[in-house]
Amino acid sequence: MQFTFVTLFSNLIECYFQDSILKRAMDKDIFHVDYFNPRDFSKSKHMKVDDTAVGGGAGMVMNPQPLYDALKALKQQDKNVYIIFLTPVAKPFKQNDAKRLAKKTHIAFVSGRYEGIDERVMETFGDELFSIGDYILTGGELASLVICDAISRNLEGVLGNSESLDIESFESSLLEAPSFSKPKSYEKSSVPSEYLKGNHSKIRSLKLALSECKTKFFRPEQLLKHRIRKSYEK
Ligand code: ADE
Repeated sequence: MQFTFVTLFSNLIECYFQDSILKRAMDKDIFHVDYFNPRDFSKSKHMKVDDTAVGGGAGMVMNPQPLYDALKALKQQDKNVYIIFLTPVAKPFKQNDAKRLAKKTHIAFVSGRYEGIDERVMETFGDELFSIGDYILTGGELASLVICDAISRNLEGVLGNSESLDIESFESSLLEAPSFSKPKSYEKSSVPSEYLKGNHSKIRSLKLALSECKTKFFRPEQLLKHRIRKSYEK
């Protein structure tokens, strides 16, 4: 898998791949990362990449020309590249998207800065647009990293234990049950006693009950979704 980050600030992104799970995955050649800087494609005298908004409005908007040329060059390199734009004005990114996109061979993430990207660029080149939540970041770089991370851990060989993918929150609309590590007792607090007794079917049903409690508390709409889904399975 190849990930390309189209960004004015690759240094914000590079450090994330220099440690831990994603670094190990890159060392094993499970995926590779490269960068395209739209400024390198600017035809303006001072390598400008932004301008005031046509029709008025606050702030600067990224010009079409540098991005058009950068993305055309990228597509010439690989006609199968799948281009994703990060913008708060898009559908929310979900775990299902991470699993689906892990099947692509090459994904490019285009990050906007300033007040955003000229709409024509997104219309011409965007295979998909995502938001990572209902808040405005200073640019798309963090959003592209969030999505790249979520996709990467679904690639074969990235996580040590392949089981750890299946039992996670959002795989079943329920949030994951609480987990504990050793010691069994710490400060004045203990692991739930059922976890210690070794009866795996009892542990499973306790975990399910705890999952439901957590989901009801933190994400009640998800619990409803889970119950509707279960009622169809009957
Ligand atoms: N750029 C700025 N805010 C964003 C968000 N919430 N999601 C994706 N891209 C963004």
